[in-house]
Amino acid sequence: MRKQMVAGNWKMNNNVVESELLISKLLEKFPESINSNKRIVVTPSFVNLIPVVSWVKNSRIEVAAQNMHFAKNGAFTGEISADMLKNAGVNIVILGHSERRTYFNETDELLAKKVMTALENNMEVIFCFGELLDDRKSGNHFKVVENQLSKALFELEALAWKNIILAYEPVWAIGTGETASPEQAQEMHAFIRQLVAKKYGADLANDVTILYGGSVKGSNAQELFSNPDVDGGLIGGAALNAAEFEAIIKAV
Ligand code: 13P
Repeated sequence: MRKQMVAGNWKMNNNVVESELLISKLLEKFPESINSNKRIVVTPSFVNLIPVVSWVKNSRIEVAAQNMHFAKNGAFTGEISADMLKNAGVNIVILGHSERRTYFNETDELLAKKVMTALENNMEVIFCFGELLDDRKSGNHFKVVENQLSKALFELEALAWKNIILAYEPVWAIGTGETASPEQAQEMHAFIRQLVAKKYGADLANDVTILYGGSVKGSNAQELFSNPDVDGGLIGGAALNAAEFEAIIKAV
């Protein structure tokens, strides 16, 4: 069954003291340990994963990593492996974020390898993709998104999709304060679900969680999430503020 999710991507923010403060505020608001159909995820920096995992133990808050290398281990200075994340109690990883693609030259081909490694290690992947402003202006946004998905994910076997969460993040909406309109988000999410359905069938497509990311705030979350194909959000700036993040979670 399709699950809803709100995931906070902390990016390169929050030292250990700030992380503890934010987590303690969130725990006050969402203390239940029961499994809910609405998942809440936080994504601290690598160095804070272990303490955050220990703080949210026995709560409904889950922890994800922001990136990962595809190799099992070896001479890759500065990188983190799937085994290290799993060992730290982290079973979810964000891959393909536009900031990784733009500033660290991550390509769809590289991301396909990372996705494979994550799945081989039984991790869930929050896979990010989305078009640039120029792509949208020139009407190429559907083509760009289709390319990103088919290169990185459409070689996977159907069974693997139980561990894939899609996150459509139009690059022009990330950190800009300019959100996609609810209509733009729904249009693209429906297109994405249709692509998955064409490749893997309607049942599988109907079960895939598709998040929207890009300037989501407490004030616009409700109208974005009320669309039938928008199953929650991947939140940047607003996830650093407990009250904003709470408002967004409540909007799902
Ligand atoms: P903002 O919510 O700050 O626009 O960031 C979105 C994002 O990049 C989440 O991964």
